Amino acid sequence: MLGRLNHVAIAVPDLAKGAEVYRSTLGATVSAPQAEPEHGVTVVFVELPNTKIELLEPLGEASPIKSFLEKNPAGGIHHVCYEVADILAARDRLTRAGARVLGDGSPKIGAHGKPVLFLHPKDFCGTLVELEQA
Ligand code: CO
Repeated sequence: MLGRLNHVAIAVPDLAKGAEVYRSTLGATVSAPQAEPEHGVTVVFVELPNTKIELLEPLGEASPIKSFLEKNPAGGIHHVCYEVADILAARDRLTRAGARVLGDGSPKIGAHGKPVLFLHPKDFCGTLVELEQA
Protein backbone atom coordinates (compact mmCIF):
# COMPACT_ATOMS: atom_id res chain seq x y z
CA MET A 1 0.00 0.00 0.00
CA LEU A 2 2.78 2.47 0.88
CA GLY A 3 4.62 4.26 -1.87
CA ARG A 4 7.44 6.78 -1.69
CA LEU A 5 8.40 8.87 1.32
CA ASN A 6 6.90 12.21 0.30
CA HIS A 7 8.34 14.30 3.13
CA VAL A 8 9.47 14.48 6.72
CA ALA A 9 7.95 17.40 8.60
CA ILE A 10 9.85 19.22 11.33
CA ALA A 11 8.05 21.64 13.62
CA VAL A 12 10.08 24.75 14.42
CA PRO A 13 9.45 27.71 16.71
CA ASP A 14 10.93 30.19 14.20
CA LEU A 15 10.49 29.43 10.50
CA ALA A 16 12.93 32.08 9.26
CA LYS A 17 15.69 30.69 11.50
CA GLY A 18 14.93 27.11 10.53
CA ALA A 19 14.94 27.97 6.82
CA GLU A 20 18.25 29.77 7.24
CA VAL A 21 19.85 26.74 8.93
CA TYR A 22 18.85 24.54 5.99
CA ARG A 23 19.80 27.16 3.40
CA SER A 24 23.12 28.42 4.78
CA THR A 25 24.49 25.80 7.15
CA LEU A 26 23.26 22.74 5.26
CA GLY A 27 23.38 24.24 1.76
CA ALA A 28 19.91 23.14 0.68
CA THR A 29 17.36 24.74 -1.62
CA VAL A 30 14.52 26.18 0.48
CA SER A 31 11.22 27.55 -0.87
CA ALA A 32 9.54 30.78 0.13
CA PRO A 33 7.20 30.51 3.15
CA GLN A 34 3.65 29.43 2.36
CA ALA A 35 0.74 30.00 4.77
CA GLU A 36 -1.65 27.06 5.15
CA PRO A 37 -4.46 28.52 7.26
CA GLU A 38 -6.62 25.39 6.90
CA HIS A 39 -3.84 23.35 8.54
CA GLY A 40 -2.77 26.01 11.07
CA VAL A 41 0.82 26.17 9.83
CA THR A 42 3.20 28.20 7.71
CA VAL A 43 5.54 25.93 5.79
CA VAL A 44 8.76 26.04 3.76
CA PHE A 45 9.91 23.13 1.62
CA VAL A 46 13.51 21.96 1.65
CA GLU A 47 14.11 20.24 -1.68
CA LEU A 48 16.33 17.17 -1.52
CA PRO A 49 17.21 14.88 -4.44
CA ASN A 50 15.00 12.04 -3.18
CA THR A 51 12.41 13.69 -0.93
CA LYS A 52 11.48 16.90 0.87
CA ILE A 53 11.75 18.24 4.36
CA GLU A 54 8.96 20.55 5.43
CA LEU A 55 9.59 23.04 8.20
CA LEU A 56 6.35 23.94 9.98
CA GLU A 57 5.70 26.99 12.13
CA PRO A 58 2.40 27.49 14.00
CA LEU A 59 -0.15 29.76 12.32
CA GLY A 60 -2.99 31.00 14.51
CA GLU A 61 -4.08 30.18 18.05
CA ALA A 62 -5.59 26.80 17.17
CA SER A 63 -2.50 25.50 15.39
CA PRO A 64 -2.21 21.70 15.73
CA ILE A 65 1.57 21.97 16.25
CA LYS A 66 1.36 24.42 19.15
CA SER A 67 1.25 21.80 21.92
CA PHE A 68 4.01 19.80 20.17
CA LEU A 69 6.27 22.86 20.35
CA GLU A 70 5.39 23.42 23.99
CA LYS A 71 6.75 19.90 24.66
CA ASN A 72 9.64 20.35 22.20
CA PRO A 73 10.60 24.03 22.42
CA ALA A 74 13.65 23.68 20.15
CA GLY A 75 11.52 21.94 17.49
CA GLY A 76 11.49 18.32 16.42
CA ILE A 77 10.30 15.75 13.89
CA HIS A 78 6.52 16.08 13.79
CA HIS A 79 5.37 13.58 11.15
CA VAL A 80 6.36 11.50 8.15
CA CYS A 81 4.34 11.48 4.94
CA TYR A 82 3.99 8.43 2.72
CA GLU A 83 2.41 8.37 -0.70
CA VAL A 84 -0.51 6.08 -1.51
CA ALA A 85 -2.16 5.54 -4.87
CA ASP A 86 -5.75 5.68 -3.55
CA ILE A 87 -6.30 7.50 -0.27
CA LEU A 88 -9.87 6.33 0.30
CA ALA A 89 -8.92 2.69 -0.28
CA ALA A 90 -5.99 3.16 2.12
CA ARG A 91 -8.24 4.74 4.76
CA ASP A 92 -10.81 1.93 4.49
CA ARG A 93 -8.14 -0.73 4.76
CA LEU A 94 -6.60 0.94 7.82
CA THR A 95 -9.88 1.53 9.65
CA ARG A 96 -10.86 -2.11 9.02
CA ALA A 97 -7.54 -3.05 10.63
CA GLY A 98 -8.46 -0.95 13.69
CA ALA A 99 -6.19 2.03 13.04
CA ARG A 100 -7.42 5.49 13.96
CA VAL A 101 -7.69 8.19 11.32
CA LEU A 102 -7.58 11.71 12.80
CA GLY A 103 -10.35 14.27 12.29
CA ASP A 104 -13.59 13.25 10.62
CA GLY A 105 -11.84 10.70 8.42
CA SER A 106 -12.33 12.56 5.18
CA PRO A 107 -9.21 13.70 3.32
CA LYS A 108 -8.25 17.38 3.33
CA ILE A 109 -6.26 19.12 0.63
CA GLY A 110 -2.62 19.29 1.80
CA ALA A 111 0.24 21.67 1.13
CA HIS A 112 0.86 20.15 -2.33
CA GLY A 113 -2.76 20.46 -3.47
CA LYS A 114 -3.41 16.73 -3.01
CA PRO A 115 -5.70 14.86 -0.58
CA VAL A 116 -4.11 13.96 2.75
CA LEU A 117 -5.08 12.11 5.95
CA PHE A 118 -3.34 11.80 9.32
CA LEU A 119 -3.11 8.57 11.33
CA HIS A 120 -2.92 8.29 15.11
CA PRO A 121 0.70 8.06 16.35
CA LYS A 122 -0.18 5.41 18.94
CA ASP A 123 -1.15 3.03 16.13
CA PHE A 124 2.09 3.61 14.17
CA CYS A 125 5.14 3.17 16.37
CA GLY A 126 4.67 6.48 18.14
CA THR A 127 4.91 8.52 14.95
CA LEU A 128 2.25 10.74 13.42
CA VAL A 129 1.78 9.48 9.86
CA GLU A 130 0.40 11.51 6.97
CA LEU A 131 -0.83 9.77 3.85
CA GLU A 132 -0.88 11.72 0.60
CA GLN A 133 -2.52 10.55 -2.58
CA ALA A 134 0.25 10.62 -5.17
CO1 CO B 1 3.05 16.90 5.98
